[in-house]
Amino acid sequence: MTPSRINWVAEHCQLLRAISAEFTGTLPFQGLTIGTGIHLEAKTVALLLTLRAGGAQLVCTGNLNTTQPEAVAALRAEGVTVIGGPTKDRQVHGRYLGQVIAARPDLILDNGGDLFAAYLEAPYDGLRGGTEETTSGRMRLEPLRDRLNLPILVINDSPIKQFAENEHAVGQSTLESYLRFTNRVTNGEQVTVFGYGACGRGVAAHFRGARARVTVVDVDPVTRLRAHLDGFSAPPRDEAISKADVIITVTGARDVLTAADLPLLRDGVIVANAGHFPLEIDVEGIAAAPEVADVREYPDDIMTLELRDGRRVHVISRGHMLNLAGPRPLGNSIESMDLGFALQARCLEAVATGGVDASSCVVPVPAWIDAAIASSYLDRKYPRA
Ligand SMILES: NC(=O)c1ccc[n+]([C@@H]2O[C@H](COP(=O)([O-])OP(=O)(O)OC[C@H]3O[C@@H](n4cnc5c(N)ncnc54)[C@H](O)[C@@H]3O)[C@@H](O)[C@H]2O)c1
Repeated sequence: MTPSRINWVAEHCQLLRAISAEFTGTLPFQGLTIGTGIHLEAKTVALLLTLRAGGAQLVCTGNLNTTQPEAVAALRAEGVTVIGGPTKDRQVHGRYLGQVIAARPDLILDNGGDLFAAYLEAPYDGLRGGTEETTSGRMRLEPLRDRLNLPILVINDSPIKQFAENEHAVGQSTLESYLRFTNRVTNGEQVTVFGYGACGRGVAAHFRGARARVTVVDVDPVTRLRAHLDGFSAPPRDEAISKADVIITVTGARDVLTAADLPLLRDGVIVANAGHFPLEIDVEGIAAAPEVADVREYPDDIMTLELRDGRRVHVISRGHMLNLAGPRPLGNSIESMDLGFALQARCLEAVATGGVDASSCVVPVPAWIDAAIASSYLDRKYPRA
């Protein structure tokens, strides 16, 4: 049989392969159900099958707009329960999440806080806790700590996830995705990046590496100063918008770019979002603005808004996270996700086996897990003679 992309990814998830081999002996999830709400793509298949190797029953669904049919098919072929399929519809997605929670999982693997929020709407006995993958989810769950009162480890807040995935990999995959979507030049173009956190630093650095002139906007003056001292232009927000050929949002906030910004936009500007939720650019509000005379839909989810004064605004993937959208989306590099998902597997193991308790509610990955994962990656790169 010709090997698939799923096989290629599994072969290169070296950390997960080693953990999977160990889990078949230790079975940390024996008798437990893990409910998951995370992007379903080739790399998550490797993670989910690792958890199953540890004895888990899995009840899985994806995130909005990122579910890949091949990943769903591969999981179902392995007998894993996958609820739903690709959707951009929030209500449909909400129903899928509800079905995961209705299975009363013992552990939750969340991405964006969707499942823990659904659990609070229909709580049940027996949930031991779980993990949250991303910044946006942490921001959503922090105010809910008192109600959750369970061990929940935030993978995003591991330094490994910060530099390996958020900075290096999101920067690389956002550039790769931008090129794949648009097939447009980056050299000499004025690219404005909104947000200079871990992801924004990577996006800015990768576009600079692709010979763009990069400007950074951040609401935090300290972060803006950092961008300036890193050699990026960091003018006031409106100036940064009005000079941009390309605008990329990656902040975790909503309504970063709205219809109120239309007067500032240059003709031909391309706008895209790499943040988790499709709320950073108010695409609906922009498309419905009175300035918009016509809308053209190009293949691969590129939308061009023609304004009454003749300017055009191109919107990529309707503001959904561009590095997991469009033609043949690959997402972040296999190695970066292998590191992040090894953290996931070890953190879920710690919650399942009582290695952490409810005092660890929405907190970063314990340092001992970070150290173990870093050592095992480095040991493979630098084997002892
Ligand atoms: N695309 C991916 O593969 C991927 C991977 C990981 C995380 N993410 C998402 O990317 C987003 C950013 O993550 P991060 O880890 O960089 O977060 P972060 O908290 O480290 O940084 C966000 C930055 O955005 C700034 N900011 C907030 N609101 C702003 C606004 N209105 N205008 C300008 N700047 C603003 C903040 O001051 C901060 O510096 C989150 O939604 C996260 O979930 C995406």
